[in-house]
Amino acid sequence: MKIVRTVAELREHVRAVRRAGGTVGLVPTMGALHRGHVSLIAASAQRTDSTVVSLFVNPRQFGDLGDLAGYPRTEEADAAKAAAAGAHVLFAPGVDEVYPDGYTAEVRLSGPLTETLEGAHRGPEHFHGVTTVVTKLFNMVGPDVAFFGAKDAQQVLVVRRLVRDLNLPVEIVVGETIREDDGLALSSRNVRLSPTDRAQALAIPRALEAATAELAAGETDAEVLTATVRRVLSRAALLPEYVAVVDPDTLQPRTTVDVPSLLALAVPVGPVRLIDNVVLVPAPQPALAGAPAGAAAPDATPEEG
Ligand code: PAJ
Repeated sequence: MKIVRTVAELREHVRAVRRAGGTVGLVPTMGALHRGHVSLIAASAQRTDSTVVSLFVNPRQFGDLGDLAGYPRTEEADAAKAAAAGAHVLFAPGVDEVYPDGYTAEVRLSGPLTETLEGAHRGPEHFHGVTTVVTKLFNMVGPDVAFFGAKDAQQVLVVRRLVRDLNLPVEIVVGETIREDDGLALSSRNVRLSPTDRAQALAIPRALEAATAELAAGETDAEVLTATVRRVLSRAALLPEYVAVVDPDTLQPRTTVDVPSLLALAVPVGPVRLIDNVVLVPAPQPALAGAPAGAAAPDATPEEG
């Protein structure tokens, strides 16, 4: 695996792959790689002929300068993990390579995708920073396929909309959220949790599981489900910034989980802010109207969920 720092070197590599008729995959990251990133790199290595992993802690998407300063930087270990997962190039540019002196361009989406949930709490500038850097990375690499994680569900929607709105010639593939054995979603920020913070953070997957179980038992009222999440978090002395049940494509709030819905939350834990989500999938409803005679399903009971 090659480590490259300039767009010129990166393009040289991509040109050679293309000349040989190969396809290129891109996995954008901010480093401090963990098994979540590694699963995306492995997916790219399987799908494409040459995988580029970008490692760039993008200052434009951090509103909180303390979060930017404290963001873990572990390039050597990252390079080893990326190579082991099948990456061909680690693109690790300096800030000046991405945002040279006099840089002013910005790519922005407006509307609920960038203004609700994370956009409401971190400010829409967060997603403006993401769409700006992702557009630039797509232009620098020119990948056939780019890989993103479902852990950042809103980011996936924003990137898909970006690709659609700007006709960017790239396919977006989404990888499932990778978790620790105890359920905590892997995050680069987890390394900043003390053992006590980490134990407290386990209330997050527990809360998502509690809502999932309650839905399976027949509760479809979004307010009741979010109250359950808040209760489980509060028992661990955690106060979420938001807990929301929304349409998984538009992020519009849902009042009833009668169709698959995204349950998303953000919770400050110790020195960091963690996000997580799960798709709530209601049990299939018994077919009543329009069902062929004699084919009516039995009444749904909680036990059947
Ligand atoms: P970063 O937080 O480093 O994440 C890079 C990619 O890894 C994202 O697509 C993210 O959704 C995915 N990821 C993170 N944790 C995951 C987990 N537990 N399971 C599966 N995938 C996971 O997201 C960013 O960087 C930046 O916003 C970026 C897209 C690189 C733009 O700067």
